[in-house]
Amino acid sequence: MAQCKAEQQTVVQSKTAEFQWVMGIESSCDETAVAILQDGTKLAANLVASQIPIHQIYGGVVPEIASRQHLEVINGLIDQALKDAGIKLEDLDGIVVSQGPGLVGALLVGVSTAKALAYSLNIPLLGVNHMEGHIYANWLAHGPIDFPVLGLIVSGGHTALMLLEGHGQYRLLGQTRDDAAGEAFDKVARAMKLGYPGGPIIDKLAMQGNPAAYELPRAWLADTPWDFSFSGLKTAVLNILNQAQMRDEEIVTEDLAASFQASVVEVLTEKALRAAEQFGVKQILLAGGVAANMGLRQALEDRCRQAGLKLYYPPAALCTDNAAMIVM
Ligand code: KG4
Ligand code: ZN
Repeated sequence: MAQCKAEQQTVVQSKTAEFQWVMGIESSCDETAVAILQDGTKLAANLVASQIPIHQIYGGVVPEIASRQHLEVINGLIDQALKDAGIKLEDLDGIVVSQGPGLVGALLVGVSTAKALAYSLNIPLLGVNHMEGHIYANWLAHGPIDFPVLGLIVSGGHTALMLLEGHGQYRLLGQTRDDAAGEAFDKVARAMKLGYPGGPIIDKLAMQGNPAAYELPRAWLADTPWDFSFSGLKTAVLNILNQAQMRDEEIVTEDLAASFQASVVEVLTEKALRAAEQFGVKQILLAGGVAANMGLRQALEDRCRQAGLKLYYPPAALCTDNAAMIVM
């Protein structure tokens, strides 16, 4: 099992600042993660055990296998995190756990572990929203961010535009009607037989391809302009693949990857910029696994610079699931 240390860093502001040692636990999908925050300011441990190699052979996350795998590794990860922080279990003053949304069986492992620890140690337990965790990865990376800020949250399970007006004050402007952006990357990559997870693979291929090579749709959804839809785009890619197969024609993988990514990036970028303008917000915050996409970062950076907006996104290791974003 791949186990990596995400970046160690100092947190500027935390919801658990009055506690000395707080453990964060994340198990909502295919990453088991444990982090320890010291004095609300310093990440003393930050471990992510990814299950990607296990799910790769199935072309996607198998929920039952994910739950069992979380169960296999979570205790070892907690022990290692305590070791990294140089403390004992009894030193913990609080536990923060990702309570959803996510795969129910997978979440259950983290939440049950967190409950058991909090109960046995007689310390407080705080459940946090996983998407809120993704948003706060930006505070972890950049320190305090002023409100209001427009949030574009793009992950394997969600795609949402939010107006963040204060801590805990979020207005959901729009979300996906069907596939999430990351889900679309994963499904298209699977259809193209590229492997799992599709996002990073397509991202890399897209850099070498022509984004105008294949004509693909953009779902602007005029009646609900802040919503997203990626299923039509996915179907369009499937049609191209099927037709090429029937006609015995070659697909230029890099070009199809670049054309698909260009469609996703254009819709995400354009809607974020339009929403920022409409709501008079001068800052955009990008979060979630798809925030690691180089094409999306570049397009948003260019557009924000032209429009005089400030753009925030976390380093790649804090875009995908981790426990630092949960505990902070
Ligand atoms: O946030 P995350 O780790 O898990 C969820 O909360 O869903 O996001 C995982 C998603 C996957 O769909 C993956 O393909 C996508 O993030 N992803 C990317 C990139 N890196 C990860 N999508 C596009 N480009 C990337 N570089
Ligand atoms: Zn996530």
